[in-house]
This record gives sequence, structure tokens and C-alpha cells, in this order.
Amino acid sequence: MEVFKTIKSLQQSLSLKDDHLTLGLVPTMGALHEGHLSIVRRAKEENNLVVVSIFVNPTQFDKKEDLINYPSTIDADLEALESLGCDYVFTPTVEEVYQGDTRSEAFSFDGLDSVMEGKHRQGHFDGVATIVKKLFQITKPDKAYFGEKDYQQLLIIKKMVDLESIPIVIVPVQIYREIDGLAMSSRNTRLTENQRNAAPEIYQTLLKSKKIFNNNDLDSVKSFVKNEFIQNKDLQLEYFEVADTESLRIATEILPHKKYRGFIAVFAGSIRLIDNIALN
Ligand code: PAJ
Repeated sequence: MEVFKTIKSLQQSLSLKDDHLTLGLVPTMGALHEGHLSIVRRAKEENNLVVVSIFVNPTQFDKKEDLINYPSTIDADLEALESLGCDYVFTPTVEEVYQGDTRSEAFSFDGLDSVMEGKHRQGHFDGVATIVKKLFQITKPDKAYFGEKDYQQLLIIKKMVDLESIPIVIVPVQIYREIDGLAMSSRNTRLTENQRNAAPEIYQTLLKSKKIFNNNDLDSVKSFVKNEFIQNKDLQLEYFEVADTESLRIATEILPHKKYRGFIAVFAGSIRLIDNIALN
């Protein structure tokens, strides 16, 4: 496994590979957990070579303290990637990536960014798309892998690739969960014991909401989820939305031929946890 800090050195090494070998890219911000590693494994299965980027992207953070407090476990990350047979790791500095202009490009995502995470985190998705576009331009992979944990992000990246006519296949990877159902996240380690014990309720509620969705109307689902969290002293519901799986338009009625997903954001103290589920 080779680790690169500069665009030039990475590109030099990538240019040496045979043209017929396929390259998979897994963008991350480090602090790798089993969810990230499941993506790297998938990328290894489907490509001859895999590059993982580890870069905490400043332009996607709407809260400065989240950026400052973002965990870094670089030694453990590199060890885990090496053991999975990852071929290249790209760990650039902010200066190397943004060249002194740490700003987002403004994209037009056709409403995909105006709901849920986009609504609650101003500028977040322009920042995500900006860095991912840069990573695509730098590494030119055949395929790039994104987790369904950040489902809205996944659709935003697909949209960006369409808008910019970038010839890269975007591969979704299913959510990797703890045994108790909690979606893996680097934030989980910051939960107190009480919060950690309460957190599986998020996925349990999503599972129940799926059942209710398929037997009742939309309002029943929404009020069920709201009520589940009213009594909970460790978890506060920020939003639960039912949205069209493709357009992410918030559902106001359920149409039989459409596919919907439930999206949830919950605060455990100051720690924000998100999850989602296919409803039909
Ligand atoms: P990060 O939060 O490090 O996540 C990197 C990738 O891992 C994303 O595609 C995310 O959806 C996926 N992921 C995280 N937890 C997961 C889980 N439990 N199961 C499956 N996949 C999971 O997302 C980002 O970084 C950044 O926004 C990035 C795309 C790297 C751009 O900066």
C-alpha cells in the first residue's frame, strides 16, 4: 500500500498502472470504522486497484466546532486499510486540495439539497460535491463508492456526475450496522453510555415505521415516529421525513407506483445521528 500527500505523487503512481486495470475510489474523512471498511471491501471485490482518500473537508462543515473536533485516527486507519489490501491512500492537506481558495463551488441540485440534511446544514452539499468533484478529477476512477448511510449525499453525487458529464460509475453500498441495529458512525464513540444504550431506538423506530407505512396512511407514520421520541430523555428527534427515493421530494401523499424512504435525524445531547430506511 502506498500513501500519498500530494496530487502529483499520487497521479504519478496512478499513471504507471496498466490501462486495462480498473480503479475504485472510496472517499472518506478518516476515523474509519467497519462501515467504511465494508465499502473498501466491496471496492476491492469489484476493481483491480483501490484508492481510499482520507480528507476532512472544511467546506462541508457548517459548524466550525464540528470541523475542529473531527476525530483523527490515522495510524489505525492506515493499518486497517493495509490489512484489507487497499492499494493507494490519499491524505492531502487542505492547502494541497484547495490551493489557497477554500471555497465551495455552487451547484444546482434540482431540489435534492433543499430538504433534510440540506435544509439543516447550510452549504453542506455544495461542500461535499466540491471535494468529491476534485477527488474525481485527481484520481479519475472507473467507479466510486458511497454509503447509503448518507443517502442524500449519494443522490447529490449522482446528480453532480450527471450535471458535469463525469464518466464514473457511482456505486451505493448498504448501511453497515452494529449488532443492535445502530448505523455505524464515527460519532457513535462520542456517545455517553446512556446515549449509546438509547441509540438503537433510532433504527428500531425506522423498522416499525416501515410496518406502519405499509398498513396505514402517511400521517400515522409521522405521528408514530414523533411519539416514540417524546418520552425519550436521551434522544431528541430533529426530523423524520418520508421522501421519494429518487427526487427526495417530501411525500404529501403515497402513490402506489412510487418508492419511498424514511429519513431521520436525532440528537443525543449535542451529537447528531442520522439514519434511513427503504419503506416499500
Ligand atoms: P465519511 O463520513 O467519512 O464517510 C465516508 C463514506 O462512508 C460515505 O460514503 C458514507 O456514506 C459511508 N459510510 C459511513 N458510515 C457508514 C455505514 N454505517 N454504512 C455504510 N456506509 C457508511 O461522507 C463523507 O465522509 C464525506 O462527506 C465525503 C463523501 C468523504 C466527502 O468529504
